[in-house]
Amino acid sequence: MMGKVRVTERTSTAGASETKVPEFSYRNVTRRFRSGRDGEFVALESVDLDIDSGSFVCLIGPSGCGKTTLLNLSAGLLSPSDGTVHFRGARLSGVNTGVGFITQHDNLLPWRTLEKNVAIALEIGKVPREERRRRVAEVLELVGLRGFSQRYPSQLSGGMQKRASLARGLVYGPSTLLMDEPFGALDAQLRFTMQNELLQIWERDRKTIIFVTHDLDEAILLADKIVVFGTRPGRVVHVEDVPLNRPRDLAELRSSPAYGEIWERLWKLLDSSSHPEGAS
Ligand SMILES: Nc1ncnc2c1ncn2[C@@H]1O[C@H](COP(=O)(O)OP(=O)(O)O)[C@@H](O)[C@H]1O
Ligand SMILES: [Mg+2]
Repeated sequence: MMGKVRVTERTSTAGASETKVPEFSYRNVTRRFRSGRDGEFVALESVDLDIDSGSFVCLIGPSGCGKTTLLNLSAGLLSPSDGTVHFRGARLSGVNTGVGFITQHDNLLPWRTLEKNVAIALEIGKVPREERRRRVAEVLELVGLRGFSQRYPSQLSGGMQKRASLARGLVYGPSTLLMDEPFGALDAQLRFTMQNELLQIWERDRKTIIFVTHDLDEAILLADKIVVFGTRPGRVVHVEDVPLNRPRDLAELRSSPAYGEIWERLWKLLDSSSHPEGAS
């Protein structure tokens, strides 16, 4: 259905990138949660990070290190306990309507057709019916679901349901996509297809994508930048630029020395950050 991913080199100069306002700026962001009677639990501590506009950034790290919390802060569904989150130069307060958020368990509503599931955000935004139809049709075409608009979720395969979630995140035309382990539950073949399709969409629209994953291969395949989180407390332990050429073919990539270097470095970091008691 969709061919090999072609991602052309971006034209950027050092001068331009220096003056560009980041899509997200996190400054000293800490988020605490109340835990039982005996005080507070630090889910995320002192995050300082910039996400460039148009970049593909993967967040990786052990379970419970605050990745979903960072997405929730970015979507404005949570506010920081300390520090600030800026979106396109403006301090976030309240829900961030500039992002599409594809959550980890982004279930479709079983009583709505595919078309109506995808249209939800447009209905809430009071977009007129005809325009809704047109935009839903466009985005279903984009994710390869043309012709399935009248099906119910139970009539769609697992992969089609994932595509539907993606369509639902895209339909509003957000400049940024937040994606929380979107392909984690898929089998290897389907995950690979979805990764390539996502890259193709990214190439077309150059959205900013913040993508949470457990899978190091997936992160290296997709990302311009990989942010490695550690746990107890959740925090950023390392940021890795991924200067590998695009298009990236996972099979080819795996045998390249540059890939192996990045993989080894991050694997060691992930291993030590999931056993913090072993660290000095
Ligand atoms: N609403 C909440 N109330 C209390 N604790 C929470 C809440 N959300 C997350 N946490 C805790 O914060 C930590 C980080 O969670 P999360 O961001 O979901 O991690 P990750 O997505 O990296 O697995 C976890 O220990 C989790 O239990
Ligand atoms: Mg999570």
